[in-house]
Amino acid sequence: MSDETPTAPVARVTDLVKDFRMSGGRTLRAVDGVSFDVGRGETLGLVGESGSGKTTVARTLIRLQRPTSGRVEFEGDDITALRGAALRRRVRRRMAMVFQSSSTSLNPYQRVGDVLAEPLRVHREGDPATRREAVAAMMERVGLDPAFAGRYPQELSGGQRQRVGIARALMLDPSLIVADEPTASLDVSVQAQVVNLLQDLQREMGLSYLFITHDLGLVRHLSHRVAVMYLGRLVEVGETARVFAEPAHPYAAMLVSMRREAEHRILPAGDIPSPVDRPSGCVFRSRCPIARARCATDVPPLAEIAPGRHAACHFPGELRPGGADVHALAPAAPPLVAPLPSPLTSQKGG
Ligand SMILES: Nc1ncnc2c1ncn2[C@@H]1O[C@H](COP(=O)(O)OP(=O)(O)OP(=O)(O)O)[C@@H](O)[C@H]1O
Ligand SMILES: [Mg+2]
Repeated sequence: MSDETPTAPVARVTDLVKDFRMSGGRTLRAVDGVSFDVGRGETLGLVGESGSGKTTVARTLIRLQRPTSGRVEFEGDDITALRGAALRRRVRRRMAMVFQSSSTSLNPYQRVGDVLAEPLRVHREGDPATRREAVAAMMERVGLDPAFAGRYPQELSGGQRQRVGIARALMLDPSLIVADEPTASLDVSVQAQVVNLLQDLQREMGLSYLFITHDLGLVRHLSHRVAVMYLGRLVEVGETARVFAEPAHPYAAMLVSMRREAEHRILPAGDIPSPVDRPSGCVFRSRCPIARARCATDVPPLAEIAPGRHAACHFPGELRPGGADVHALAPAAPPLVAPLPSPLTSQKGG
């Protein structure tokens, strides 16, 4: 049974750890104690350098991978250890992923209509005729001519293929969509159309998104809250507009500064360390301009520094980019339902 209430977060991840075994018996810790939640109707942006663990968080959340430790809850149920039929019933219907490249995530030998009918077929929904109807209705909903059902993916443009990828994700009855760089391989004008489509679908269907991207402008535009990852850890989580205006963690300050005039940019020292050889203490200290002795010995927890704002830094707010967020865009629409207070969003004792 679910203990879900109407305002409960749709998904919650607690102390998530994901290790990969490397050759030579070494272990790569791709995700190291990550906790966050995604509210109903909310878009949570997940940003961070390449290799920081964003995709691993996403794949573990939707249970394409099993976590090494930690807990994943979805719609009020603990889904951490689900397998087989229970996983399909509980998770595969209600969470879906949209991938970066629809050209590699779509089977080139399968017609669009079959791509979209497949989730229904696998979950034994309807008969061939009702599935065809559902496919046509979904194609219209995502702005595709239903006549394209007979085409193969390579006969479509990149934007049309990504609409197929989105339609496929929506064929069952998802409440959470994990979108991993869904617009990265598209031209800028097509990107905007796909982003608008995702926003319209969110409003119409009450969807929640975990939205992974390297594009800070997109995050600023689309996300209600943003979570910043560095080397397997979350270093800052907060309302997007506030994180962009006043980043608290030095790494977030650096990211945000890239959107400012050149003279206000803060560049990190050196390269991102290897995840098999992570710095002691704070993982960011080897590149941090304000690191001190304590940063080498004490791991800073992701602590609440202001209501709804969390940062994992011994000296939050000390490093600030100057200048203004020059590329400010209209803020994202409010979530349909405000996220519930959670370990990450609540005020102590409040
Ligand atoms: N299946 C795997 N086996 C071994 N190592 C892996 C595996 N998947 C990911 N990794 C490693 O885990 C770390 C995190 O990878 P991940 O793909 O999650 O990063 P990311 O933030 O999504 O990066 P990008 O922005 O480039 O997509 C990397 O060091 C990566 O090499
Ligand atoms: Mg990735």
